Amino acid sequence: MIRAELPVAVFDSGVGGLTVLHELLVSLPAEDYLYLGDTARFPYGERSHAELERFAIEIAEHLIAAGTKLLVVACNAASSAALGALQDWLAASGAGVDVIGVVAPATQLAVAGSRSGRIGLLATPATVASGAYDRAVARADAHVQLESVACPDLAPIIQGGFPFDEAVVRTVRGYCAPLRAAKVDTVILGCTHYPLVAPLLQRMLGRGVALVTSGAGVARSVERALSARGLLREDAGEREGSYRFQCTGEVGAFAGLATRFLQMPLGEVARVRLGDGADAAGERAA
Ligand code: DGL
Repeated sequence: MIRAELPVAVFDSGVGGLTVLHELLVSLPAEDYLYLGDTARFPYGERSHAELERFAIEIAEHLIAAGTKLLVVACNAASSAALGALQDWLAASGAGVDVIGVVAPATQLAVAGSRSGRIGLLATPATVASGAYDRAVARADAHVQLESVACPDLAPIIQGGFPFDEAVVRTVRGYCAPLRAAKVDTVILGCTHYPLVAPLLQRMLGRGVALVTSGAGVARSVERALSARGLLREDAGEREGSYRFQCTGEVGAFAGLATRFLQMPLGEVARVRLGDGADAAGERAA
């Protein structure tokens, strides 16, 4: 039975989804949140369509068993490859839990904001190969052109704690070059890790280029989805919700990075195992 008291569950391959969680914590502070980073299987950006579908369903199964009222796929690679499969699986499961991805909210903001009709996309190879943004942009406005650049190294650099040396700067400059040449006025950061290096991207793309992230749009979609089903917390305004974390990889590495990126106290992080049928709680850090 879905109840308003249950948490909103948010997942990503790693710490990138914290950029989405951030917006949720600010926009809907009365809600409780459960965040899962599938760090043992990071990066998703090099995974196949079939793997991403399988991972997304395994995670959904785990989060529903843990208790949640809404799922947020805070990962572009998983949203691009697996949102449809996840929606079908959820409908068949009878769990009554809705799911929200990141591609539609980012696309809507970018298309609405672009004056020139030339939009860039920086994303992982899996997201670019899926064609999800091409389809979403074409649906939103057939006259908008999308220039996509696959950035295989960028999410791993960020997840690795981004040592900002000259090699990183050169790599990022290389990813931005085709978008500068295409004279885009708007760039979708099509990986939830990328807002964490927004100043570097903004400098390389130029001041006049609008960077679009999905977080704020996702928060609005979450609010509408909960409100439509009477699942928003009724005590909103009086209550400050809680948030907790799970990861599938090493707890210490996740907690260290996540504390830096969330810029809020992290609280409990628990390790869970996925993929072998049994989710066993292992190490914990608080
Ligand atoms: N943060 C994920 C995304 O939005 C991907 C990072 C990765 O695992 O490659 O696509």
